[in-house]
Amino acid sequence: MLNRVAMTAPSPLRSAAARPLTGETRVPGDKSISHRSLMLAAVAVGTTTIDGLLEGEDVLNTAHAVTAMGAAARRLDGGRWEVDGVGVGALAEPADVLDLGNSGTGARLLSGLIAGHPITAVLTGDASLRRRPMNRIVAPLTQIGARIETRSGGRLPMTIVGARDPAPVVYRLPVPSAQVKSAVLLAALNAPGATTVIEPEPTRDHSELMLRHFGAEVTVVDRADGRAITLVGQPELKARAVRVPGDPSSAAFFAVAALLVPGSRLTLTEVGINPLRTGLYATLKEMGADIRFLNQRVEAGEPVADIAINHSPLVGVEVPATRAPSMIDEYPILAVAAAFAKGPTVMRGLAELRVKESDRLTAIADGLVAQGVAVGMEEDSLIVQGGGGPCAGGGTVATYMDHRIAMAFLVLGMAARAAVTVDDGAMIATSFPGFVEIANRLGAAISPAAP
Ligand code: S3P
Repeated sequence: MLNRVAMTAPSPLRSAAARPLTGETRVPGDKSISHRSLMLAAVAVGTTTIDGLLEGEDVLNTAHAVTAMGAAARRLDGGRWEVDGVGVGALAEPADVLDLGNSGTGARLLSGLIAGHPITAVLTGDASLRRRPMNRIVAPLTQIGARIETRSGGRLPMTIVGARDPAPVVYRLPVPSAQVKSAVLLAALNAPGATTVIEPEPTRDHSELMLRHFGAEVTVVDRADGRAITLVGQPELKARAVRVPGDPSSAAFFAVAALLVPGSRLTLTEVGINPLRTGLYATLKEMGADIRFLNQRVEAGEPVADIAINHSPLVGVEVPATRAPSMIDEYPILAVAAAFAKGPTVMRGLAELRVKESDRLTAIADGLVAQGVAVGMEEDSLIVQGGGGPCAGGGTVATYMDHRIAMAFLVLGMAARAAVTVDDGAMIATSFPGFVEIANRLGAAISPAAP
Protein backbone atom coordinates (compact mmCIF):
# COMPACT_ATOMS: atom_id res chain seq x y z
CA MET A 1 0.00 0.00 0.00
CA LEU A 2 2.76 2.40 0.91
CA ASN A 3 5.46 2.66 -1.65
CA ARG A 4 8.76 2.70 0.11
CA VAL A 5 11.66 4.26 -1.82
CA ALA A 6 14.43 1.70 -1.95
CA MET A 7 17.78 2.99 -0.75
CA THR A 8 20.24 2.11 -3.43
CA ALA A 9 23.99 1.59 -3.47
CA PRO A 10 26.08 4.78 -3.57
CA SER A 11 25.36 6.60 -6.80
CA PRO A 12 27.96 9.27 -7.58
CA LEU A 13 26.76 12.30 -9.52
CA ARG A 14 28.55 14.90 -11.60
CA SER A 15 27.37 18.48 -12.03
CA ALA A 16 28.80 20.56 -14.87
CA ALA A 17 28.27 24.20 -15.92
CA ALA A 18 24.56 24.89 -16.21
CA ARG A 19 22.62 26.87 -18.75
CA PRO A 20 20.79 29.78 -17.10
CA LEU A 21 18.11 28.41 -14.79
CA THR A 22 14.81 29.69 -16.11
CA GLY A 23 11.13 28.98 -15.70
CA GLU A 24 8.87 28.06 -12.85
CA THR A 25 8.69 25.01 -10.62
CA ARG A 26 7.19 23.80 -7.37
CA VAL A 27 9.54 22.07 -4.96
CA PRO A 28 8.30 19.06 -2.94
CA GLY A 29 6.37 19.49 0.30
CA ASP A 30 7.94 20.73 3.50
CA LYS A 31 9.65 17.92 5.38
CA SER A 32 8.97 19.27 8.87
CA ILE A 33 5.30 19.91 8.17
CA SER A 34 4.88 16.53 6.41
CA HIS A 35 6.17 14.57 9.44
CA ARG A 36 3.96 16.56 11.78
CA SER A 37 0.86 16.18 9.62
CA LEU A 38 1.14 12.36 9.69
CA MET A 39 1.77 12.24 13.41
CA LEU A 40 -1.02 14.61 14.45
CA ALA A 41 -3.41 12.97 12.00
CA ALA A 42 -2.56 9.65 13.68
CA VAL A 43 -3.83 10.88 17.06
CA ALA A 44 -6.78 12.90 15.76
CA VAL A 45 -10.28 11.44 15.64
CA GLY A 46 -11.42 10.76 12.08
CA THR A 47 -9.78 10.79 8.66
CA THR A 48 -7.32 13.57 7.83
CA THR A 49 -6.50 14.43 4.23
CA ILE A 50 -3.04 15.72 3.37
CA ASP A 51 -2.25 17.46 0.08
CA GLY A 52 1.32 18.03 -1.00
CA LEU A 53 2.90 15.57 1.45
CA LEU A 54 6.63 15.16 0.84
CA GLU A 55 7.01 11.64 -0.54
CA GLY A 56 10.67 11.39 0.42
CA GLU A 57 12.16 8.42 2.23
CA ASP A 58 12.17 10.22 5.61
CA VAL A 59 8.47 10.97 5.56
CA LEU A 60 7.50 7.57 4.10
CA ASN A 61 9.22 5.99 7.10
CA THR A 62 7.04 8.08 9.41
CA ALA A 63 3.96 6.99 7.42
CA HIS A 64 5.00 3.35 8.00
CA ALA A 65 5.55 3.98 11.68
CA VAL A 66 2.13 5.53 12.35
CA THR A 67 0.52 2.74 10.32
CA ALA A 68 2.38 0.19 12.45
CA MET A 69 0.79 1.85 15.50
CA GLY A 70 -2.75 1.50 14.19
CA ALA A 71 -3.29 4.78 12.31
CA ALA A 72 -3.57 3.70 8.69
CA ALA A 73 -1.80 6.14 6.33
CA ARG A 74 -2.43 5.61 2.64
CA ARG A 75 -1.71 7.32 -0.64
CA LEU A 76 -4.66 7.99 -2.93
CA ASP A 77 -4.57 8.54 -6.66
CA GLY A 78 -3.33 12.02 -7.48
CA GLY A 79 -0.88 12.13 -4.59
CA ARG A 80 -3.32 13.02 -1.81
CA TRP A 81 -2.82 11.11 1.45
CA GLU A 82 -5.36 10.00 4.04
CA VAL A 83 -4.73 9.01 7.63
CA ASP A 84 -7.31 7.29 9.84
CA GLY A 85 -6.59 8.71 13.28
CA VAL A 86 -7.12 6.71 16.47
CA GLY A 87 -7.40 9.59 18.97
CA VAL A 88 -4.99 10.87 21.64
CA GLY A 89 -3.81 8.03 23.88
CA ALA A 90 -5.01 5.25 21.58
CA LEU A 91 -1.93 4.35 19.53
CA ALA A 92 -1.25 0.59 19.50
CA GLU A 93 2.07 -1.06 20.28
CA PRO A 94 4.00 -1.69 17.06
CA ALA A 95 4.67 -5.39 16.43
CA ASP A 96 8.18 -4.77 15.10
CA VAL A 97 11.10 -2.36 15.32
CA LEU A 98 10.36 1.08 13.85
CA ASP A 99 13.05 2.03 11.33
CA LEU A 100 13.19 5.78 10.73
CA GLY A 101 15.93 5.57 8.12
CA ASN A 102 17.91 8.82 7.89
CA SER A 103 15.45 11.00 9.78
CA GLY A 104 16.24 12.72 13.07
CA THR A 105 12.87 14.46 12.94
CA GLY A 106 11.02 11.17 12.44
CA ALA A 107 12.91 9.47 15.28
CA ARG A 108 12.71 12.28 17.81
CA LEU A 109 9.11 13.36 17.21
CA LEU A 110 7.81 9.78 17.16
CA SER A 111 9.68 9.13 20.40
CA GLY A 112 7.63 11.91 21.94
CA LEU A 113 4.37 10.50 20.64
CA ILE A 114 5.25 6.98 21.89
CA ALA A 115 6.49 8.24 25.28
CA GLY A 116 3.00 9.54 26.08
CA HIS A 117 1.33 6.19 25.34
CA PRO A 118 1.36 3.02 27.49
CA ILE A 119 3.16 1.05 24.76
CA THR A 120 6.67 -0.23 24.18
CA ALA A 121 8.55 0.44 20.95
CA VAL A 122 12.06 -0.03 19.64
CA LEU A 123 13.41 2.64 17.27
CA THR A 124 16.35 2.43 14.92
CA GLY A 125 17.67 4.08 11.78
CA ASP A 126 20.43 4.03 9.20
CA ALA A 127 24.15 4.39 9.99
CA SER A 128 23.89 8.19 9.99
CA LEU A 129 20.87 8.32 12.34
CA ARG A 130 22.42 5.70 14.64
CA ARG A 131 25.30 8.13 15.25
CA ARG A 132 23.08 11.06 16.26
CA PRO A 133 22.44 12.08 19.89
CA MET A 134 19.13 11.03 21.46
CA ASN A 135 19.82 12.05 25.08
CA ARG A 136 18.39 15.46 24.29
CA ILE A 137 14.93 13.83 24.12
CA VAL A 138 15.55 11.10 26.67
CA ALA A 139 15.88 13.69 29.46
CA PRO A 140 12.49 15.42 29.08
CA LEU A 141 10.61 12.27 28.04
CA THR A 142 11.87 10.52 31.18
CA GLN A 143 10.57 13.45 33.23
CA ILE A 144 7.16 12.92 31.62
CA GLY A 145 7.25 9.30 32.80
CA ALA A 146 8.68 7.18 29.98
CA ARG A 147 11.53 4.69 30.51
CA ILE A 148 14.10 4.78 27.73
CA GLU A 149 17.16 2.60 27.12
CA THR A 150 19.57 3.74 24.43
CA ARG A 151 22.75 2.24 23.10
CA SER A 152 25.88 3.72 24.70
CA GLY A 153 26.30 7.47 24.20
CA GLY A 154 22.54 7.96 23.86
CA ARG A 155 22.43 6.42 20.37
CA LEU A 156 19.83 4.38 18.52
CA PRO A 157 18.59 1.68 18.59
CA MET A 158 16.59 2.59 21.67
CA THR A 159 13.64 1.10 23.54
CA ILE A 160 10.89 3.35 24.82
CA VAL A 161 8.50 2.09 27.47
CA GLY A 162 5.85 4.78 27.28
CA ALA A 163 4.30 6.34 30.37
CA ARG A 164 1.15 4.76 31.77
CA ASP A 165 0.28 8.08 33.45
CA PRO A 166 2.24 10.79 31.64
CA ALA A 167 2.90 13.83 33.83
CA PRO A 168 2.73 17.44 32.66
CA VAL A 169 6.12 19.19 32.93
CA VAL A 170 7.84 22.54 32.59
CA TYR A 171 10.90 21.99 30.44
CA ARG A 172 13.57 24.46 29.40
CA LEU A 173 15.39 23.48 26.20
CA PRO A 174 19.17 23.22 26.73
CA VAL A 175 19.73 23.42 22.93
CA PRO A 176 17.65 25.41 20.43
CA SER A 177 15.89 22.44 18.85
CA ALA A 178 12.42 22.28 17.34
CA GLN A 179 12.72 18.50 17.41
CA VAL A 180 13.14 18.42 21.19
CA LYS A 181 10.40 21.00 21.70
CA SER A 182 8.06 18.98 19.49
CA ALA A 183 8.90 15.67 21.18
CA VAL A 184 7.90 17.17 24.55
CA LEU A 185 4.68 18.65 23.17
CA LEU A 186 3.69 15.38 21.48
CA ALA A 187 4.32 13.40 24.67
CA ALA A 188 2.35 15.99 26.65
CA LEU A 189 -0.70 15.50 24.43
CA ASN A 190 -1.67 12.56 26.63
CA ALA A 191 -0.79 14.17 29.97
CA PRO A 192 -3.49 15.85 32.07
CA GLY A 193 -3.05 19.59 32.65
CA ALA A 194 -0.67 22.08 31.06
CA THR A 195 2.86 21.38 29.83
CA THR A 196 5.21 24.28 29.13
CA VAL A 197 8.36 24.25 27.00
CA ILE A 198 10.63 27.28 27.29
CA GLU A 199 12.97 27.92 24.40
CA PRO A 200 15.75 30.48 24.92
CA GLU A 201 15.79 31.17 21.16
CA PRO A 202 12.71 30.72 18.96
CA THR A 203 12.82 27.64 16.72
CA ARG A 204 10.45 26.59 13.92
CA ASP A 205 6.88 26.56 15.26
CA HIS A 206 5.19 24.12 12.87
CA SER A 207 4.16 21.87 15.77
CA GLU A 208 2.46 24.71 17.60
CA LEU A 209 0.65 25.88 14.44
CA MET A 210 -0.46 22.39 13.50
CA LEU A 211 -1.54 21.43 17.02
CA ARG A 212 -3.84 24.46 16.93
CA HIS A 213 -5.01 23.51 13.44
CA PHE A 214 -6.11 20.12 14.83
CA GLY A 215 -7.92 21.78 17.75
CA ALA A 216 -5.43 21.78 20.65
CA GLU A 217 -5.07 24.77 22.96
CA VAL A 218 -1.54 26.16 22.60
CA THR A 219 -0.44 29.52 23.96
CA VAL A 220 2.87 31.25 23.30
CA VAL A 221 4.27 33.96 25.57
CA ASP A 222 7.50 35.88 24.97
CA ARG A 223 9.21 36.29 28.34
CA ALA A 224 12.54 37.65 29.54
CA ASP A 225 14.00 34.12 29.67
CA GLY A 226 12.70 33.05 26.26
CA ARG A 227 9.56 31.92 24.56
CA ALA A 228 7.16 29.83 26.65
CA ILE A 229 4.88 27.44 24.78
CA THR A 230 2.06 25.90 26.79
CA LEU A 231 -0.12 23.01 25.65
CA VAL A 232 -3.27 21.94 27.47
CA GLY A 233 -3.10 18.14 27.56
CA GLN A 234 -5.65 15.52 26.54
CA PRO A 235 -7.38 17.57 23.85
CA GLU A 236 -9.78 15.92 21.47
CA LEU A 237 -7.91 16.44 18.23
CA LYS A 238 -10.18 16.39 15.19
CA ALA A 239 -9.22 15.23 11.72
CA ARG A 240 -8.52 18.20 9.47
CA ALA A 241 -7.52 18.98 5.90
CA VAL A 242 -3.81 19.81 5.64
CA ARG A 243 -2.05 21.42 2.73
CA VAL A 244 1.73 21.13 2.90
CA PRO A 245 3.59 24.08 1.34
CA GLY A 246 6.79 23.66 -0.68
CA ASP A 247 9.86 23.26 1.51
CA PRO A 248 11.91 26.47 1.83
CA SER A 249 14.94 24.32 2.66
CA SER A 250 14.58 22.48 -0.66
CA ALA A 251 13.80 25.69 -2.56
CA ALA A 252 17.06 27.10 -1.17
CA PHE A 253 19.13 24.93 -3.52
CA PHE A 254 17.44 26.27 -6.65
CA ALA A 255 17.35 29.81 -5.29
CA VAL A 256 21.12 29.82 -4.83
CA ALA A 257 21.67 28.05 -8.17
CA ALA A 258 19.73 30.84 -9.90
CA LEU A 259 21.73 33.50 -8.07
CA LEU A 260 25.04 31.93 -9.14
CA VAL A 261 24.39 30.99 -12.77
CA PRO A 262 24.48 34.13 -14.98
CA GLY A 263 21.29 34.87 -16.89
CA SER A 264 19.03 32.90 -14.51
CA ARG A 265 15.44 33.99 -13.79
CA LEU A 266 13.49 31.51 -11.75
CA THR A 267 10.18 31.37 -9.90
CA LEU A 268 9.58 28.80 -7.17
CA THR A 269 5.87 28.52 -6.49
CA GLU A 270 4.00 27.92 -3.22
CA VAL A 271 6.98 27.86 -0.89
CA GLY A 272 6.55 28.09 2.88
CA ILE A 273 7.90 31.38 4.24
CA ASN A 274 7.33 30.85 7.95
CA PRO A 275 9.57 33.58 9.47
CA LEU A 276 11.27 30.96 11.67
CA ARG A 277 12.51 29.25 8.48
CA THR A 278 13.60 32.13 6.26
CA GLY A 279 16.96 33.16 7.71
CA LEU A 280 18.74 32.09 4.52
CA TYR A 281 16.61 34.35 2.34
CA ALA A 282 17.25 37.33 4.67
CA THR A 283 20.99 36.58 4.52
CA LEU A 284 21.04 36.26 0.73
CA LYS A 285 19.25 39.61 0.41
CA GLU A 286 21.91 41.18 2.64
CA MET A 287 24.48 39.70 0.24
CA GLY A 288 22.83 41.57 -2.64
CA ALA A 289 20.50 38.88 -3.97
CA ASP A 290 17.51 39.85 -6.10
CA ILE A 291 14.92 37.67 -4.35
CA ARG A 292 11.26 38.62 -3.99
CA PHE A 293 8.40 36.95 -2.14
CA LEU A 294 5.34 37.36 -4.40
CA ASN A 295 1.64 36.54 -3.81
CA GLN A 296 2.08 36.15 -0.07
CA ARG A 297 -0.83 34.26 1.51
CA VAL A 298 -1.67 31.88 4.37
CA GLU A 299 -2.51 28.23 3.63
CA ALA A 300 -3.67 25.91 6.43
CA GLY A 301 -2.08 28.18 9.02
CA GLU A 302 1.32 28.55 7.32
CA PRO A 303 2.53 31.61 5.37
CA VAL A 304 3.33 30.84 1.72
CA ALA A 305 4.69 32.81 -1.27
CA ASP A 306 6.02 32.41 -4.79
CA ILE A 307 9.73 33.20 -4.72
CA ALA A 308 11.23 35.03 -7.72
CA ILE A 309 15.01 34.95 -8.09
CA ASN A 310 17.25 36.70 -10.60
CA HIS A 311 20.98 36.07 -11.01
CA SER A 312 22.87 38.56 -8.81
CA PRO A 313 26.47 39.32 -7.87
CA LEU A 314 26.89 38.67 -4.14
CA VAL A 315 29.07 40.17 -1.42
CA GLY A 316 30.25 38.43 1.75
CA VAL A 317 28.46 39.21 5.03
CA GLU A 318 28.59 38.30 8.70
CA VAL A 319 25.73 36.00 9.73
CA PRO A 320 24.90 36.36 13.45
CA ALA A 321 24.60 33.31 15.70
CA THR A 322 21.08 34.40 16.66
CA ARG A 323 19.94 33.69 13.12
CA ALA A 324 21.10 30.06 13.16
CA PRO A 325 17.83 28.42 14.28
CA SER A 326 15.93 30.05 11.38
CA MET A 327 18.35 28.66 8.78
CA ILE A 328 19.93 25.68 10.50
CA ASP A 329 19.55 23.39 7.46
CA GLU A 330 20.71 26.04 4.99
CA TYR A 331 24.37 26.49 5.94
CA PRO A 332 25.64 24.02 3.32
CA ILE A 333 24.00 25.99 0.51
CA LEU A 334 24.83 29.37 2.07
CA ALA A 335 28.49 28.31 2.21
CA VAL A 336 28.29 27.53 -1.52
CA ALA A 337 26.81 30.98 -2.23
CA ALA A 338 29.55 32.51 -0.07
CA ALA A 339 32.24 30.84 -2.19
CA PHE A 340 31.08 32.96 -5.17
CA ALA A 341 30.56 36.20 -3.20
CA LYS A 342 33.07 39.02 -3.04
CA GLY A 343 34.93 38.87 0.27
CA PRO A 344 34.59 36.72 3.36
CA THR A 345 31.33 35.41 4.78
CA VAL A 346 31.47 34.69 8.50
CA MET A 347 28.90 32.27 9.95
CA ARG A 348 28.71 31.95 13.71
CA GLY A 349 26.87 29.74 16.21
CA LEU A 350 27.07 26.54 14.20
CA ALA A 351 27.66 23.96 16.97
CA GLU A 352 24.42 22.13 16.08
CA LEU A 353 25.74 21.48 12.56
CA ARG A 354 28.06 18.87 14.04
CA VAL A 355 25.11 16.60 14.94
CA LYS A 356 23.03 16.76 11.76
CA GLU A 357 22.82 13.98 9.13
CA SER A 358 26.63 14.36 9.06
CA ASP A 359 29.13 16.60 10.84
CA ARG A 360 28.14 19.35 8.45
CA LEU A 361 30.79 21.81 9.56
CA THR A 362 33.54 19.43 8.52
CA ALA A 363 31.69 18.20 5.42
CA ILE A 364 31.14 21.77 4.16
CA ALA A 365 34.70 22.86 4.86
CA ASP A 366 36.29 19.78 3.24
CA GLY A 367 33.95 19.99 0.26
CA LEU A 368 34.80 23.64 -0.38
CA VAL A 369 38.53 23.06 -0.03
CA ALA A 370 38.23 20.30 -2.65
CA GLN A 371 36.85 22.95 -5.06
CA GLY A 372 39.68 25.39 -4.45
CA VAL A 373 37.83 27.61 -1.97
CA ALA A 374 39.69 28.97 1.08
CA VAL A 375 37.88 28.19 4.33
CA GLY A 376 38.54 28.93 8.01
CA MET A 377 36.93 26.99 10.86
CA GLU A 378 36.96 27.99 14.53
CA GLU A 379 35.04 25.86 17.03
CA ASP A 380 31.49 26.72 15.95
CA SER A 381 32.21 29.31 13.25
CA LEU A 382 32.88 28.99 9.55
CA ILE A 383 34.57 31.60 7.36
CA VAL A 384 34.37 31.23 3.59
CA GLN A 385 36.67 33.41 1.50
CA GLY A 386 34.62 34.27 -1.55
CA GLY A 387 36.41 35.02 -4.79
CA GLY A 388 33.76 37.32 -6.28
CA GLY A 389 33.15 34.95 -9.19
CA PRO A 390 33.24 31.28 -10.17
CA CYS A 391 35.46 29.09 -8.00
CA ALA A 392 37.68 26.40 -9.54
CA GLY A 393 35.53 23.31 -8.91
CA GLY A 394 36.78 20.04 -10.36
CA GLY A 395 36.93 18.23 -7.01
CA THR A 396 35.09 15.27 -5.51
CA VAL A 397 32.94 15.78 -2.42
CA ALA A 398 32.45 13.27 0.39
CA THR A 399 28.75 13.47 1.34
CA TYR A 400 28.72 11.23 4.47
CA MET A 401 25.11 10.07 3.87
CA ASP A 402 23.95 13.69 3.94
CA HIS A 403 21.37 14.79 1.35
CA ARG A 404 22.01 18.49 1.86
CA ILE A 405 25.76 18.18 1.38
CA ALA A 406 25.09 16.35 -1.89
CA MET A 407 22.62 18.94 -3.23
CA ALA A 408 24.69 21.95 -2.12
CA PHE A 409 27.77 20.78 -4.00
CA LEU A 410 25.79 19.81 -7.09
CA VAL A 411 24.69 23.46 -7.12
CA LEU A 412 28.31 24.57 -6.78
CA GLY A 413 29.13 22.48 -9.86
CA MET A 414 26.50 24.36 -11.89
CA ALA A 415 28.49 27.59 -11.63
CA ALA A 416 32.12 26.52 -11.02
CA ARG A 417 34.83 26.56 -13.71
CA ALA A 418 35.12 22.74 -13.73
CA ALA A 419 32.53 20.03 -13.05
CA VAL A 420 32.03 18.78 -9.48
CA THR A 421 31.51 15.16 -8.44
CA VAL A 422 29.64 14.11 -5.30
CA ASP A 423 30.42 10.61 -4.08
CA ASP A 424 26.78 9.64 -3.46
CA GLY A 425 23.51 11.18 -4.54
CA ALA A 426 21.31 8.36 -3.20
CA MET A 427 20.42 10.19 0.03
CA ILE A 428 18.84 13.08 -1.89
CA ALA A 429 15.70 10.89 -2.00
CA THR A 430 15.28 11.36 1.75
CA SER A 431 14.13 14.97 1.35
CA PHE A 432 13.97 15.90 -2.33
CA PRO A 433 12.84 13.14 -4.67
CA GLY A 434 13.18 14.39 -8.25
CA PHE A 435 15.90 16.93 -7.43
CA VAL A 436 18.15 15.91 -10.33
CA GLU A 437 15.31 15.72 -12.86
CA ILE A 438 13.90 19.11 -11.87
CA ALA A 439 17.35 20.73 -11.81
CA ASN A 440 18.12 19.41 -15.29
CA ARG A 441 14.76 20.57 -16.60
CA LEU A 442 15.54 24.08 -15.33
CA GLY A 443 18.97 24.17 -17.03
CA ALA A 444 21.42 22.14 -14.92
CA ALA A 445 23.67 19.38 -16.28
CA ILE A 446 23.74 16.69 -13.59
CA SER A 447 24.51 13.13 -14.66
CA PRO A 448 25.65 9.84 -13.14
CA ALA A 449 29.41 9.76 -12.58
CA ALA A 450 31.70 6.76 -12.75
CA PRO A 451 31.85 5.13 -9.27
C1 S3P B 1 13.52 20.03 12.28
C2 S3P B 1 14.30 20.73 13.15
C3 S3P B 1 15.74 20.96 12.94
C4 S3P B 1 16.14 20.69 11.49
C5 S3P B 1 15.54 19.43 10.94
C6 S3P B 1 14.04 19.50 11.00
C7 S3P B 1 12.10 19.81 12.62
O1 S3P B 1 16.47 20.08 13.76
O2 S3P B 1 17.55 20.64 11.39
O3 S3P B 1 15.93 19.24 9.60
O4 S3P B 1 11.32 19.41 11.73
O5 S3P B 1 11.73 20.05 13.77
P1 S3P B 1 16.79 20.45 15.31
O6 S3P B 1 15.51 20.60 16.00
O7 S3P B 1 17.56 19.27 15.84
O8 S3P B 1 17.61 21.69 15.24
